[in-house]
This record gives sequence, structure tokens and C-alpha cells, in this order.
Amino acid sequence: MLVAGGTGGLGRAVSLAFLEQGAKVVVTYRNQKEFDTLRSAAGANGSALEGRRVDVTDEAAVRELIDAVLAKYGRLDGLVNTVGGYAGGKNLWQTDAKVFDQMLSLNMRSGYVLARAVVPAMLKEGRGAIVNVASKAAVEHAAGAAAYAASKAGAVAMMDSLADEVKGTGVRVNSILPSIIDTEVNRKAIPSADFAKWPKPEDIARVILFLCSDEAKVIHGAALPVYGES
Ligand SMILES: NC(=O)c1ccc[n+]([C@@H]2O[C@H](COP(=O)([O-])OP(=O)(O)OC[C@H]3O[C@@H](n4cnc5c(N)ncnc54)[C@H](OP(=O)(O)O)[C@@H]3O)[C@@H](O)[C@H]2O)c1
Repeated sequence: MLVAGGTGGLGRAVSLAFLEQGAKVVVTYRNQKEFDTLRSAAGANGSALEGRRVDVTDEAAVRELIDAVLAKYGRLDGLVNTVGGYAGGKNLWQTDAKVFDQMLSLNMRSGYVLARAVVPAMLKEGRGAIVNVASKAAVEHAAGAAAYAASKAGAVAMMDSLADEVKGTGVRVNSILPSIIDTEVNRKAIPSADFAKWPKPEDIARVILFLCSDEAKVIHGAALPVYGES
């Protein structure tokens, strides 16, 4: 299992959930300290965890990563892309092109580069599951979040097309749409919020686990809301 961004607020919970199920998990990360934290949280399951420091918007680096994973493990059963980022709070005409490009790169290009690298190997195996984490903003386009909303809507559209392309091959492709997640970063950013209403990363991780499992074999090309009460 490959969890891109597997040390992040949601990614960590996804990585730990797969490890608990006995999967071998490769995570991409950028910050060594975050990977060390994940490894210690994995405890005894840590031996099934491997970390690779990779910028997943870099096509050559991702190809190298996938080649190495396939050489070592022989196949790749699933890809969960939790890499993404948010920038907002400004109107479209006040948004720097740099920020706009960054949103497209983190939220859309990451999914493209990863899928491009893993799909051929999954097609060869005749099985595989891809879950790309988008956002509620992909379908609800609020003021002050144009670049983010566009990048997430684009990511969903891209996964929809990919799902159509691989229909009937045994490879399944789905998106999930979180609203707000109960992460440390969000708690710090909105201290007055009612955290009890925010879905926990572990709750969303369970949905992702399900989508990657054979129990979800009839779910393909979906964009699943995981809003909880928020
Ligand atoms: N948190 C929310 O409330 C919320 C709501 C809706 C949707 N989402 C979506 O859910 C996903 C996960 O969110 P999150 O809160 O877990 O975010 P997060 O904590 O920032 O985690 C994102 C992870 O991706 C990594 N990353 C970022 N850019 C990368 C790159 N170019 N190459 C490789 N890794 C990279 C980060 O590494 P570093 O930490 O080292 O940069 C981090 O580990 C994102 O797609 C986000 O847009 C989140």
C-alpha cells in the first residue's frame, strides 16, 4: 500500500490503519521528524512501514519511487493520495499566480503524477485501488477559495475520467471529500470551534480502508462525502 503524504494529519491515521490490518505500507514524506513520529506511533507494526522522502509533484522522483516499490514488493495493491494543501481567504482577483499554481500542483498534479506512475502496474496485475483525497470544496465553491476549489474540483474530474478509463480492469478509482477534519492544525487555526462535530482522521481512514478493500468492489468512480456533522 502506498500512502502519499502518509505522515500528515489524515495520512498518519490512514498509514496506521493499514498497518493495523497487516498491510505493508510505504509512505511518502518530506519532513523526517514527522516520519519518525509515525514510526514510533506504529509500534510493533513499524517493521511493515517504509518511508521515502519524495516530492510527489516531481514526476521523475515518483517514477523512481514506484519502480523501487515494485522491485521490492512485486506489486502495489493500493494508492491513497493524501497530499494536498489549502490557501484561501482572498478573492480570485487578489490571489497571486504563485498561490494559484501551488494549489493546482499540490491538489491536482500530485494525483496525476502518482496515478500515471502506478496505474500501468495495477493494470498488469488486474487489480488495485486508488483513493484520492479531494474536498467538499470540490463541489461547494465558496468565496475566498477559488484556487483551492478549482484544484479540488479538477482532482475529482481527473479521477472520474481515470475511473472511466480503467472500468472493467479490476482497478478501482474513487475520491473522498472531507469537509473539515479534526487535526491539530485545524484546532490551532479555529480554537473556538466545536471539535466534537469534526470527523476524526481515524474515522475517515476507516472509510478509505473500506474503499480499498474487496468489500467495496462495486464502488468505482465515486466522490464520497465524509462530512460527518460539519
Ligand atoms: N484538514 C482538513 O480539514 C481537510 C479538509 C478537506 C480536505 N482535506 C484534504 O485532505 C488531505 C490531507 O489533509 P491534511 O490535513 O492531512 O494535510 P497535511 O497535514 O498538511 O498533510 C499533507 C501531507 O502531504 C505532504 N506533502 C505536501 N506536499 C507534498 C509534496 N509536494 N510531496 C510530498 N508530500 C507532500 C505533507 O508533508 P509536509 O508536512 O512535510 O509538508 C503532509 O505530510 C489534503 O488533500 C487536504 O487538502 C483536508
